[in-house]
Amino acid sequence: MSENKETNCLCFYVNGKKVTENNADPETMLLSYLRERLRLTGTKYGCGGGGCGACTVMVSRYQPGTKTILHYSANACLLPVCQLQGAAVTTVEGIGNTKTRVHPVQERIAKAHGSQCGFCTPGMVMSMYTLLRNKPQPNMEDITVALGGNLCRCTGYRPIVDGCKTFSPESNCCQANGNGAGCCLNGDLPPERSENEPPPQLFDQEDLLPLDPTQDLIFPPELILMAEMEPQVSQLFRGERMVWVSPVSLEELIQLKTSHPQAPLVMGNTNIGPDIKFKGAWHPIIISPTRVQELFEVTKTPQGVCFGAGCSLSVVKALLEGLVQEIPEEKTEIYRSLLQQLGNLGGQQIRNVASIGGNIVSAYPNSDLNPVFAAGNCTLNVVSKRGRREILLNKDFFVGFGKTSLKPDEIVLSVFIPVSRQGEFMRAFRQAPRKENALATVTTGMRVMFIEGSSVVKELSIYYGGVGPCTVSATKTCAAVIGRKWDEQTLSDAYTQLLDEISLSPSHPGGQVEFRRSLTLSLLFKFNLQMLHKLWEMNVIQEDLSEGVSSAIRPLPKQLQPSLQEFQAVVKGQSGDDPVGRPIMHRSAISQATGEAVYCDDIPKMDGELHLVLVTSTRPHAKILDIDISEALRVPGVVDVITSKDIPGKKFRTFTGIDEDILAQNEVSCVGHMVCAVVADNRKQAKRGAALVKIAYEDQPGPVFTVEEAIEKQSFFLPQRMIERGNVDEAFDKVDHIYEGEIRLGGQEHFYMETQSMVVVPSGEERELKVYISCQHPTYAQESIAETLGIPSNRVSCHVKRVGGAFGGKVTKTSIIACITSVAAWKTGRAVRCVLERGEDMLITGARHPVLGKHKVGFMNDGRIIAADLHYYANSGNTADESLLVIEKILLHLDNAYKVPNLRGRSVACKTNLPSNTAFRGFGVPQSMLVTENMINDVAMKLGCNAEEIREINMYKEVSLTHYKFEFDPKNLLRCWDECKEKSDYGSRRKSVAQFNQQNRWKKRGMATIPIKYGIAFSDGFLNQAASLVHIYKDGSVLVSHGGTEMGQGIHTKMQQVASRELHIPASLIHITETNTSAVPNTCPSAASFGTDANGMAVKDACEILYQRLEPVRKQNPEGTWQTWVTSAFIQRISLSATGYYRGHDLYMDWEKQEGQPYAYFTYGACCSEVEVDCLTGDYRTVRTDIVMDIGRSINPSVDIGQIEGAFIQGLGLYTMEELKFSPSGVLYTRGPSQYKIPAVCDIPLQFNVYLLSGSDNPHAIYSSKGIGEPVLFLGSSVFFAIKDAVAAARVEAGMVGPFTLNSPATPERTCLACNTPFTQKIPASKQGSFQPWALSIP
Ligand SMILES: Cc1cc2nc3c(=O)[nH]c(=O)nc-3n(C[C@H](O)[C@H](O)[C@H](O)COP(=O)(O)OP(=O)(O)OC[C@H]3O[C@@H](n4cnc5c(N)ncnc54)[C@H](O)[C@@H]3O)c2cc1C
Ligand code: FES
Ligand code: FES
Repeated sequence: MSENKETNCLCFYVNGKKVTENNADPETMLLSYLRERLRLTGTKYGCGGGGCGACTVMVSRYQPGTKTILHYSANACLLPVCQLQGAAVTTVEGIGNTKTRVHPVQERIAKAHGSQCGFCTPGMVMSMYTLLRNKPQPNMEDITVALGGNLCRCTGYRPIVDGCKTFSPESNCCQANGNGAGCCLNGDLPPERSENEPPPQLFDQEDLLPLDPTQDLIFPPELILMAEMEPQVSQLFRGERMVWVSPVSLEELIQLKTSHPQAPLVMGNTNIGPDIKFKGAWHPIIISPTRVQELFEVTKTPQGVCFGAGCSLSVVKALLEGLVQEIPEEKTEIYRSLLQQLGNLGGQQIRNVASIGGNIVSAYPNSDLNPVFAAGNCTLNVVSKRGRREILLNKDFFVGFGKTSLKPDEIVLSVFIPVSRQGEFMRAFRQAPRKENALATVTTGMRVMFIEGSSVVKELSIYYGGVGPCTVSATKTCAAVIGRKWDEQTLSDAYTQLLDEISLSPSHPGGQVEFRRSLTLSLLFKFNLQMLHKLWEMNVIQEDLSEGVSSAIRPLPKQLQPSLQEFQAVVKGQSGDDPVGRPIMHRSAISQATGEAVYCDDIPKMDGELHLVLVTSTRPHAKILDIDISEALRVPGVVDVITSKDIPGKKFRTFTGIDEDILAQNEVSCVGHMVCAVVADNRKQAKRGAALVKIAYEDQPGPVFTVEEAIEKQSFFLPQRMIERGNVDEAFDKVDHIYEGEIRLGGQEHFYMETQSMVVVPSGEERELKVYISCQHPTYAQESIAETLGIPSNRVSCHVKRVGGAFGGKVTKTSIIACITSVAAWKTGRAVRCVLERGEDMLITGARHPVLGKHKVGFMNDGRIIAADLHYYANSGNTADESLLVIEKILLHLDNAYKVPNLRGRSVACKTNLPSNTAFRGFGVPQSMLVTENMINDVAMKLGCNAEEIREINMYKEVSLTHYKFEFDPKNLLRCWDECKEKSDYGSRRKSVAQFNQQNRWKKRGMATIPIKYGIAFSDGFLNQAASLVHIYKDGSVLVSHGGTEMGQGIHTKMQQVASRELHIPASLIHITETNTSAVPNTCPSAASFGTDANGMAVKDACEILYQRLEPVRKQNPEGTWQTWVTSAFIQRISLSATGYYRGHDLYMDWEKQEGQPYAYFTYGACCSEVEVDCLTGDYRTVRTDIVMDIGRSINPSVDIGQIEGAFIQGLGLYTMEELKFSPSGVLYTRGPSQYKIPAVCDIPLQFNVYLLSGSDNPHAIYSSKGIGEPVLFLGSSVFFAIKDAVAAARVEAGMVGPFTLNSPATPERTCLACNTPFTQKIPASKQGSFQPWALSIP
């Protein structure tokens, strides 16, 4: 490159404003540039690896060739700033705001209640906005595709989809709006509704801003001029460690690659970016050929289509879709196979930037495209200094993990995809841990060519991904089939050959060995059936597939159906100004949707602020011999390294009577144990410093990982708990049957979208600290910090504006990190920020307790359960944390809805060398009840009836005592159960399911209805108190502070409603301020589904006091207004400020006597789910879910339904998808959304109905409402049991009846293996003990 032709000036636009950067940093991604440099903090960090969509922005580029503007969504976390030359970036701030005008997308997602904690909302908004820019009237599929790359942990997606759906013409019908079975199209009225009484709606569709394209920012004319007029010159940016070169011509590119053969060509950066970020890869030179036109050319010929290697996967997809419409179907076999894969590859944002050439050259072992390219005889056109050559993409091209046969200096210019020939057929299949946006477990491309007019195979090509270090060919299998007839015998021989050819070591990285191997067979089986059908269509064979057999190749249902949300209208006569009982939008939803809502890491950098990065143990159990920080201190920018020795006060914290080091002192007891922390001027420097801290360890023998190992070594946190009703041992002698079983339930990562975040600011005088923190229990953080620093609590104030999701994970763990951050702030005297990266967060902060549950159950022939003995072993990890409370709650809920006269439970917290587990929504109940329901299921299977019958027989029927002697009336439990069965049409659908199963050999349906009785409040009475502080200002505006933290559950919205009712003023006059320990002291955690109950009463109390105080002025001037009364009160010197207090219920549990009143009341519910399972792959779809919940009189039905749906989907994740995986030496593998799959929009039930039980009152809580945050999570198990029901039907085909073990989560792997198909049966099991599995079997 000649000097005069290159520039180091970068020019792009952000939200209509020009940005010029001289010498941009090649290591800077757009996300940090937006957040730190431009202070546009609406775009969020959720994972940094393209897996969550929180950072979605729209990128627009002018295409000089077509003179059009291309808009696409992209993940800012993977978009190098250096690549933005000529681009216009639009962020959430650029489309609308509350100061000028909110954009309809922002408004509709907010008004449809699609924003809870709001952390995902800007990303959702930008994905949808981009779709609308390209297609203003999208259909439902467009919407779900656009949102497919965005994760939300709170809402359960339904309301987000509903908000977006309002843009779709398909939604202009009452069916599509979820108005039930009756449809305007048929002239029907939905059932149970009279013409005069429209049902209450969650939001009013009439009240929405129209989509107005004139509101959109125009594409900057300067960028068009630049592209049209200015000569393109190459760019060169020199960073601290990297040089970035962006050539504009192919010659230059070739020259560069010749000079720097090891330099990667960065296109979409979706492979190189994560490698640099997560694997520490480093490239001194990066070549970015995104401006080399030749790489983007597309040529269509009669022989096929040639895509420039730089074409994005979205462009490839769109062009192939066009071709499939244009040319005869028989020529498009390969195109359609590619489209099949492209539909599920990554999320939309990934497909928009990832290049076809990059996908090929990345050579992922489980690339979705490579097996299709290879089987489809595609070719690469490659160029280098030596000239051009053509390479056949076949087995010789893929030579190892991430390696191809390309020479280092070669550039892929284009990819040629041929049209298919006569008699040639191709199919592609993939099976992934999640239906969309997940790398496949096994993926395949299969192509066959028959001799004309016959079923004799002329050519056969089969490639797999996911079964080796690279894309592999089943060459021998193909050779054995070629020349033979495509029939049963040939294929049977092929399976045998394939089994021999594609074999995996039992220790294969990624595990799932049996599953992967069985998939190779079952996917071939699917191909076989498709080909048989083809041969029949061509009249080559006489018999088509039977209906039952063809179920193997019918896709699972996918189409979202209208859903219902039914709730009670407010009582007649309630004032229109009284918001209680109405579906009021989350009070911050609009700010969240516009990106204005401030989360902890959005707080601007303080003067002199430092960043803290934790150094954690790499050993599961070892003595610390030495911590050498010298090299770390030498890193420029590193200011200090904090160790336990620096803690001025208490070096440990005490919880449930057990001490836990703040930073490890002498010993580490898990991988991820916090040892010390590096503080530096910025995060990058702190990270570099942290990598250079050297810790010398002396490993301790025999670390304990599993509960079995803990039991063997008696490694427990004490006390163990036991509770018994009746006499279990005696009762076992009197029963007709006894059955013993067990179930394992894996842990669950909280995956709150906002990672642990805090900023600690020393005030500089009188030892005062201000702590801005994202946590559920600011008082605990305050107390812990004070103790750690050895100062009184009155010097520490904790401020929580909002929390981007918590789910129990931001109580204890946040506090301990806050202590460390405070020590750093204390020692350096400077503000310190600590924001964990996703991988650090997942490693350090623990999860839900994995549990091994064992049951012995005694029952009668008529289904009555007479005795049950349950044992729970919870894997607590290396510290006690809240484990002892968790195992108590496990025992208190083991009866669920059933009156088992002789019932015993024992639970124990196992101490292991895994990261310490902690509270998680449900706090042991989801584990406890799964074991109980599994026991019920076993009884049903033993007796050969539906589990629902056994549930009904054993359910509490009249006023009863629980096993801890607490009296309650199960009337509403039974009502929920009955209504759920009725609304879900359980009886007739059960019959349809049985019929479906008879008619379909390879797809099975299953149903399950699950009840819940969930105790609300803390069993330690003192934790149920709450306080509030309410000020009325002279202008009549009201400020409310209370002890609850807003984490998406809508507590601030509900408090605003309470204050509005009590003060008799519109909610608009009331502002809820941050949770602040200086305003309301000694708060209790926002947990146990009790936040609204307690804080609501405290706010009510304060407002009642104030309202009463104003009574004299109201009497003096009955015609006056709120404003005049407030003014008079001030003049008359009546205090306009009051504190409110709520003492809470006197709850307790006496474990000695095994009795107590640990809960204020129960929330009841029932849920019926139906699934369809693909027995050959274990894939499933939740076809329908109906939930009926008794939550008393809801204060805010939209918030409560949001909690119900969100908790259900989180439960669905727990029981069917989410898997934490540890290496044999206790290292957590799953450290981000790429490895750990939470439910995405593709996982929601196709029909998802929620009904709030009518006519329910609750004298024990505010306005007769009930707590709802946690209970419904367990109802996600209805999907687990529905899967188990479907698997049972599949097993019947294999002649297997009776109880069987299906552990949770029921992943496709477990489901498929449990189905026991002829293909899983062929896989030889590896001998236990003869190999080391890739992952531990936890619990
Ligand atoms: C969140 C996420 C989900 C994903 N899901 C899937 C999935 O489901 N299925 C799947 O198959 N893949 C998946 N991927 C992988 C993704 O498809 C690839 O990373 C992508 O296609 C690589 O293209 P790129 O342009 O981003 O490559 P880059 O990261 O820019 O480059 C990758 C490599 O290719 C080389 N390269 C690029 N272009 C050329 C060229 N023209 N000539 C020579 N070498 C070249 C580079 O030197 C570099 O080594 C996923 C990735 C992410 C981040
Ligand atoms: S932060 Fe970019 S995708 Fe998660
Ligand atoms: S609202 Fe989606 S993550 Fe909280």
